[in-house]
Amino acid sequence: MRKKIVAGNWKMNKDLPSSISLISDIKNEIAGKNYNTKIIICPPATSLETAGVLLKGTNISLGAQNMYFEESGAYTGEISAKMLKSVGCQYVILGHSERRTIFNETDEIINLKIKAALKNNLKPIFCIGETLEERENEKTFQVIERQITYGLKGFTELEIETLVIAYEPVWAIGTGRNATPSQAQEVHKFIRNLLQIKYSSNLSDNLIIQYGGSVKPENARELMAQNDIDGALVGGACLQSDSFIKIVEAAE
Ligand code: PGA
Repeated sequence: MRKKIVAGNWKMNKDLPSSISLISDIKNEIAGKNYNTKIIICPPATSLETAGVLLKGTNISLGAQNMYFEESGAYTGEISAKMLKSVGCQYVILGHSERRTIFNETDEIINLKIKAALKNNLKPIFCIGETLEERENEKTFQVIERQITYGLKGFTELEIETLVIAYEPVWAIGTGRNATPSQAQEVHKFIRNLLQIKYSSNLSDNLIIQYGGSVKPENARELMAQNDIDGALVGGACLQSDSFIKIVEAAE
């Protein structure tokens, strides 16, 4: 049985005081509850250190939204995997479509980032997904295959086991238009089959594949009830504790 993971990607929202207050709201919401679902929050970099302190001893894990692949040096504005580890991050979102499109991250760059994360014992939440144009041109499976092939190039099966994959169709992110449960399931199944062909059934049976793109309390249950959907990567709906926790409860 694969565990479900619900992760909140705060994106460029919440300064430090509002991060502290959201974390405290989430902690209050889940106090005394024993969820089977793994909960991860990914606040902006400026809130990570404080979040790391506030989450100590809780069942909420901390993730970052991005990092650079070099260890250290003259890379103004960048943050390394080791730095993220040092403030308590266990996860890092890599290859998010906003990074791919706005900041021109290629499959090769994402591959280097995954490599650096793994080297530092950070678990990547590796995002993949097609644009609307690609879907309309029936390129979805081709794009997913390319992103997986190049993104995961050179890694052993043992290394890939530590990853979480997030399927996020770009046309569903922040648009209010989620993929239907069957559209999402179809791609999740494709990803799982691909992992089986490229690696093994053991890997494809056990790897967690989250869905992301306009997940809300209203659609979360049905999406996560699909056979191959193991949780959600949530943007907009994670910025309020009640809607975020409703999604966790839907995963339960
Ligand atoms: P959304 O974002 O839930 O606001 O669509 C999801 C994501 O980008 O991870």
